[in-house]
Amino acid sequence: MKKLTYKFSTTSVDYYLDESIAQLKDVVDKTHTIIITDENIFNAHTKRFKGWNTIVLKAGEEFKIQPTVDTIIEELIEMGADRKSTLVGVGGGVITDLTGYVASVYMRGIKFGFIPTTVLAMVDASIGGKNGIDVGVYKNMVGVIRQPSFILHDFAFLKTLPQSEWENGFAEIIKHACIKDAAMFKQLEASSLKSYQSKKNLVAELIKRNALIKTKVVQQDEFESGDRKLLNFGHTLGHAIENMYELSHGQAISIGMTYACHISEQLSGFKQTEKVTDLLSKYGLPTYAEFDKTKAFDILQKDKKKVKSEMNYVLLEKIGKGVVKSIPMTDLKKIITSL
Ligand SMILES: NC(=O)c1ccc[n+]([C@@H]2O[C@H](COP(=O)([O-])OP(=O)(O)OC[C@H]3O[C@@H](n4cnc5c(N)ncnc54)[C@H](O)[C@@H]3O)[C@@H](O)[C@H]2O)c1
Repeated sequence: MKKLTYKFSTTSVDYYLDESIAQLKDVVDKTHTIIITDENIFNAHTKRFKGWNTIVLKAGEEFKIQPTVDTIIEELIEMGADRKSTLVGVGGGVITDLTGYVASVYMRGIKFGFIPTTVLAMVDASIGGKNGIDVGVYKNMVGVIRQPSFILHDFAFLKTLPQSEWENGFAEIIKHACIKDAAMFKQLEASSLKSYQSKKNLVAELIKRNALIKTKVVQQDEFESGDRKLLNFGHTLGHAIENMYELSHGQAISIGMTYACHISEQLSGFKQTEKVTDLLSKYGLPTYAEFDKTKAFDILQKDKKKVKSEMNYVLLEKIGKGVVKSIPMTDLKKIITSL
């Protein structure tokens, strides 16, 4: 198996970026491992789970909450999971966030690894150690930063990924291009979702490039005092409207990125908004949307990125170069309500 190892502050993480779940038995001790997945993935890939202890959850963001954590913990106790057990989250970001969080609190912390099955989880959610749950409309309000032991990509899972989930994943890929990688932005402009979906090598190369962009950012700033904040491009407003309108994560941050481009025009001299919105549309993502700006601002005030009376907002100077600007909340209110 081809293994890449990346060091973080407290541990290192093994990446197996083009393998099969069949190889999992070489990475963990099968008898002491419990897989956590959701019904959609389990039903579409039942034979891949054969012979593994598996907890199957209901699918969806609405289950990324404390009662699900309690249910998993009760099942783990029943299954006899102990400090030597390893949890493996096989799923999208909901499953990886839940698995990493439960593994971090069960018996004060046990080992865990991820087999992400959505594009979004492969390039983003599974990387960086942030694991947590939602509280009401507040996304990821409770959680930890703790790295998995390993991440394994098995592209066979993507064969059953719904179209809307491909689009969600590409929102994060376009985000990476906007803040860090102008060359990849050009590559995305020249290609299409269809061609990535039909050519395994092309998507494998793109996913690896993106997984490594996020990995490098996190390695340099694991606890988000600097560069890691850039990964929040599109997320401040995106998170505020995501639960208000039951948008998917990708749709919400796509709209968030669109408006962040406009704020960038006002505050950091950005001049390429149309190129960004054209690319988002090309990959099936929404850009401009009617939303209740006052309500969005109210939710935004509870955002974790707010520090006292200022908000750390990610803007673009140009495509490929994101910057973090601290904007006084009073100014931000004016800007958002005038968008
Ligand atoms: N921890 C982080 O750093 C981080 C970063 C980004 C996003 N997230 C979180 O990730 C979550 C979103 O993740 P997501 O978009 O992967 O959503 P998800 O986990 O809800 O998966 C999306 C849908 O696709 C289904 N699915 C997953 N893989 C499939 C497959 N291979 N075949 C068929 N169906 C499949 C799921 O059952 C679900 O219905 C959000 O909760 C977000 O907060 C976390």
